Formats: sequence, structure tokens, C-alpha cells
Amino acid sequence: MAPGALNVILKAILDEGDEVLVPKPYFVEYGFYVDNHGGVLKAVDSTPAFDLDLDAIEAAITPRTRALLINSPNNPSGRVYSAESIQALGKLLEHKWLETGRVVFLISDEPYRHIVYDGVTVPPVLSAYTNTIVTTSYSKDLSLSGERIGFLAVHPGILEVGRLMSGLILANRILGFVNAPALMQRAVARLQGVKVDLSFYQRNRDVLWEALRDAGFAVPRPDGAFYLFPKAPIDDDVAFVRELQEQLVLAVPGSGFGGPGHFRMSYCVSHQTVDGAIPVLREVGCRYFG
Ligand SMILES: Cc1ncc(COP(=O)(O)O)c(C=O)c1O
Repeated sequence: MAPGALNVILKAILDEGDEVLVPKPYFVEYGFYVDNHGGVLKAVDSTPAFDLDLDAIEAAITPRTRALLINSPNNPSGRVYSAESIQALGKLLEHKWLETGRVVFLISDEPYRHIVYDGVTVPPVLSAYTNTIVTTSYSKDLSLSGERIGFLAVHPGILEVGRLMSGLILANRILGFVNAPALMQRAVARLQGVKVDLSFYQRNRDVLWEALRDAGFAVPRPDGAFYLFPKAPIDDDVAFVRELQEQLVLAVPGSGFGGPGHFRMSYCVSHQTVDGAIPVLREVGCRYFG
């Protein structure tokens, strides 16, 4: 599963005090994974539409930077980074490697790769930069979250591939993951190419995004995953989320995702739950935006 794979990678590549860059907003748990292995998470600005800001990434790279961790489709924004961004990112990291002699690994966390809408495709990352490791899990695209199964894939041309693979295998054992049960390994091997019914999520995305927009919220339309990340009408996102909670709409404050002043809504819930939130969003929108 994705957290297992990310912890294995970070254990294998980080020295105490090494920095891991993460574009904002980012999955809350990344900070804890990096901290587990003595690293320091450095959150980096993105564009207002939540795409990669390459100038901000370049400016954030220091002699202590060991990795850049990206997640597309993104939790919480739903953004899929464009092919142009990924290509330019690969060139930037390649250039930094030549310039400084120190590799910045690109870690691409992709559990939502197959959860995309409107014909969007997620551009490949391994072909954009040699020093890349991809992680994924079957929790989302097969809705198999209880099985805790996924994988990591290493570019065959990555720096010191043999040493790195040995480090990853050892870290996998040291951290106690060892292997996924053999039965599930066989099951997922036969399920390659299969995915959950995306029309269910797409319907929820459309209904919730339109309701938020019509209520006056600024919210980019997600390309994938099953989250929305609107701007809150007040600066205090924790207070705003509490206000929604009092009306039985559960959201998560953006601060934990490196996006203060925003809130995350998840739509991997029943149609009925999504529809039930709409009158509340309308009422809240009327109150704040008129
Ligand atoms: C971006 C991201 N990475 C990793 C994970 C963990 O996935 P899992 O534990 O289901 O494999 C999640 C789960 O929500 C996620 O959103």
C-alpha cells in the first residue's frame, strides 16, 4: 500500500536532516512519513490552480534536498499535473543533478492514477526523469483498501540501482511489511486493467462542484481523485469546518494539507450523502457571499 511504499523509500534514501520537497497542498500524512526517517518536509508553493510551480521548486532545492514527492491526481485538490509540467520538472531535476552532482529523487505517489474524469490522462513520470520511483496502491482504483496492497516501481536506470534495490528490500523487511499475502498478489495480478465504476464518483464530483460554485465558493474543478479543495469564506479554516460540522457536513481543514484558508471535501460517499450536503452549502454561501 502507498504509506508502506513511501516509508520504505524514505527509510532507504534519507540521511538525518535531509529535505523532502512537497508541492502544496499535499496529503496530510506525508509529514509524518518524512519525520519517521529523520527527514524534514519542506512544503513548496503551487500555482493558484494547484499545478506545479517550477520556479518555486527550483528555488526550494538546497544541498540538503534528497527528494521531491508529488501526488497526481492530487489529494486534496484533485489536480492532475499537465504533461508539460512533468516534462519540465524532469528537465529541471536533471539539470540540478548535472549542476550540483547530487541527485534529487522524484517520488511519484499515484494511488489515484486511474481515477480521472472527462478523458483526462495522467502523464507518465518514469519517462520524464531517470531518478524516479513510483508508488501506488489498489485501495482506490479497485476499492480494496482493507487488503493493504500496492507496489513501488523503480526506474531501471536510477542512480546506483543495485544498491538502492537492496536498500528498499531491506527497509521493507525492517519496517515489517515483508510481503503482501500470496493470495492477494495472485488476485490483483488477474485484475490488472480493471477499475471501479468511475461514473459513480464523476456524478458526485459534478453535483458537488456545481453546488459549491453556485453557492459562491472559489474551487477549481478536480481532474481526478475524489476530493475538492475550495477556498473557505473566512481565513480560519478550522472554525469554518466546525461551522459545517454543526450542520452535519463533514469537511477537513486545509491547514493540515499545507493549504490554510481552504477546506477539503471528499465525495467517495453515497449520492444521498452528497445531495444532503447541498442545502447546507447553499445556506452557507448565501450567508457569506450574499
Ligand atoms: C495521496 C495519498 N497517498 C497515499 C494514501 C494511502 O493509501 P492507502 O493506505 O489506501 O494505500 C492516500 C490515502 O488516502 C492518499 O490520498
